[in-house]
Parts: sequence; C-alpha cells; structure tokens
Amino acid sequence: RPVSDGMDSTPTSHHRRRLTKVSVIGAGNVGMAIAQTILTRDLADEIALVDALPDKLRGEMLDLQHAAAFLPRTRLVSDTDMSVTRGSDLAIVTAGARQIPGETRLNLLQRNVALFRKIVPALAEQSPDAILLIVSNPVDVLTYVAWKLSGFPVRRVIGSGTNLDSSRFRFLLAEHLDVNAQDVNAYMVGEHGDSSVAVWSTLSVAGMPVLKSLQESHSSFEEEALEGIRRAVVDSAYEVIGLKGYTSWAIGYSVANLVSSLLRDQRRIHPVSVLAAGFHGIPDDHEVFLSLPARLGRAGVLGVADMELTDEETRRLRRSAKTLWENTQLLGL
Ligand code: NAI
Ligand code: LAC
Repeated sequence: RPVSDGMDSTPTSHHRRRLTKVSVIGAGNVGMAIAQTILTRDLADEIALVDALPDKLRGEMLDLQHAAAFLPRTRLVSDTDMSVTRGSDLAIVTAGARQIPGETRLNLLQRNVALFRKIVPALAEQSPDAILLIVSNPVDVLTYVAWKLSGFPVRRVIGSGTNLDSSRFRFLLAEHLDVNAQDVNAYMVGEHGDSSVAVWSTLSVAGMPVLKSLQESHSSFEEEALEGIRRAVVDSAYEVIGLKGYTSWAIGYSVANLVSSLLRDQRRIHPVSVLAAGFHGIPDDHEVFLSLPARLGRAGVLGVADMELTDEETRRLRRSAKTLWENTQLLGL
C-alpha cells in the first residue's frame, strides 16, 4: 500500500460525525451552478442530483466527479428516481421551465406547478425532516406550493427570493458609489422579480446611512440615479436572459450563501421568501410568501424581522402581496 503508518486506522467514535446531505432537483443551468458552488465551498458531505434526462444527468455528475483531485471530498450521486435523495438535510428545487426572452416569471406558473405536484410529495416522503429551498420560478408562488404539497412546518420551506435581487442591488450601488459590494448594506424585499421593493432606509456603507446624507445635501440628482439603480435591478435578469439565454452564476452563489447559513447554523439575516401573512399590513389569512429579512439556521427560518418601511415601501409591498395572493388563489391548493 502506498500510504500506511497510522493513516489507515479505524476511526474512533469521536471521529465520526453526522454526514450532511444536500439534494439538488433539476440539473440544468441553475441546479449545476448551485451544485458546483456548494462543492467548492465544501458545504456538504454528499450531493444527490436528480433530473428527468438520464444522459444529461449522468454527464453532469461525471464531469463534476472528474474534478475530485481539486475539491474537498464530497460524494456525488445521481438518479432520475427521487429515492437517491433519501435522508437529505436540505433539498433544493430548481427543476422546471425557465423564461424565454420577454416572458415574465409568473408566466411559468402553470407549467411549474404541474411539475411540483410530482416532485414535492416524493421529495417530502424521502426526506421528511429536510429543509426545502425553492429556486424554480415564479419562486414566491412555488414556495407556497411546496409548503402546501409537502405538509412541512413553515420554518422548513424557504424560497431563494430576493437574496439574489439584493446582491444585484449591492453590486450596482457599489459600482455607483465606488466602494466594495461587501461593505454595502441594502435590501430588496417583496416579490423576486418585477415588483420587488428597494428598502432605501436600510442603505448604508460600512454602517453610514447613505440616503440621510443625500437628503441633507438636497442632492436630487443622486436620488434620481439611485432610482435608476432600482430599475436596473429589476431589469437585470431580463438583460442577462436576452444576452446568454438564462441566469446561473449569481443564483449559484446566492443559494450557496443560503445553504451555508442554514446548514452551518449561522443565524445570518437574508431576504428570502417566507410566509408573510401578518407583516406590514398583509392580512393574517393571506397565506402569501414573499421576501422579508429572515434569520436562518439549522432549524430553517428562526425569525422574521419586522423592518421599518416608509409608507410608499409598505404600499409597494402590499401590492406585491396582493398580486402573489391572487396567483396562489387560482391554484386551488
Ligand atoms: P434548465 O432548463 O437549464 O433546467 C431545468 C431542468 O429541470 C432541466 O434539466 C430539466 O430536465 C429538469 N426537469 C424537468 N422536469 C423535471 C422533473 N420532473 N424532475 C427533475 N428534473 C426535471 O433551466 P434553468 O436555467 O436551470 O432554470 C431552472 C429554474 O430556475 C427556472 O424556473 C428558472 O426560472 C429558475 N431560476 C430562478 C432564479 C431565482 O432567483 N429564483 C434564478 C434563475 C433561474
Ligand atoms: C433571475 C431569475 C431569472 O436571475 O429569476 O432573477
């Protein structure tokens, strides 16, 4: 044997720890970007991939396995059958139709609900204790659908939501202000996509509020530029889809960031899609999911921050909630 001298000893019980298993349903652009970011960040001991196309699925798995010499030791498995996901700690759903240029996320609803009716109950049966992280679009409505179809407690069903929109927002603000995006604190909440709401009052750079200083200097030009940035965030995905056909890298990093907070019990606050009934004047009986700042840990959503919004921001959020509520009502779940 090439390596010996104590390196082959049987692990004693204190060496053994519970292995972490993550499943990714849908091995398309988004699912694979997520899987590879989870791999490079060493967030799981085992990754199970599921897709409806067996050859593409096996090809993707082998291609990643061939990078084993450069990566942390993660077991990769794949199958078209959901049983491969058995015992997952976290299951990420990215399967489904995506937008073609010009289509909105809500246009995908009927097609992807039909798919979720097949996927979610099977997933829940294989991993009754898992956290479900929904990425397929329209993500807010599909997170509601996954919650209903899984029967899981609401803290264990989360949509990737505006964690991505907030990253786009921080990037564009950082470019505009010529600072590092990691120093920019700014949230987008509400629907992931067209009606997302920029929470200007949260905007700060290294703890210094930006809007207040703009208001004090009566800098209306700056405020116009900032409104242009908000619009650019909403247009971001359409621009990328128009150019390359789909989005993948940013959502890959955004979801891996959520996986780290959840599985490593980081208790970090992320804007993600959660049950929003009762927040910001959304009626208690409107079971609608949209993004609000939520504290994430190993048990899922540990709490939701009741952030302060301006009257205009609250109006926009309620309008978002109304649109999403009307869409969920049509599903009859
Ligand atoms: P894609 O077409 O590359 O991949 C979708 C995959 O789902 C395909 O490989 C397909 O074979 C698979 N699939 C279809 N039916 C299946 C089934 N029954 N079981 C397992 N797999 C199945 O699409 P892409 O670009 O990966 O997008 C996936 C979804 O993610 C879309 O709905 C897209 O809109 C959404 N998305 C969401 C984002 C977010 O921020 N929430 C960001 C980017 C995309
Ligand atoms: C995004 C997808 C398309 O990149 O929802 O925003």
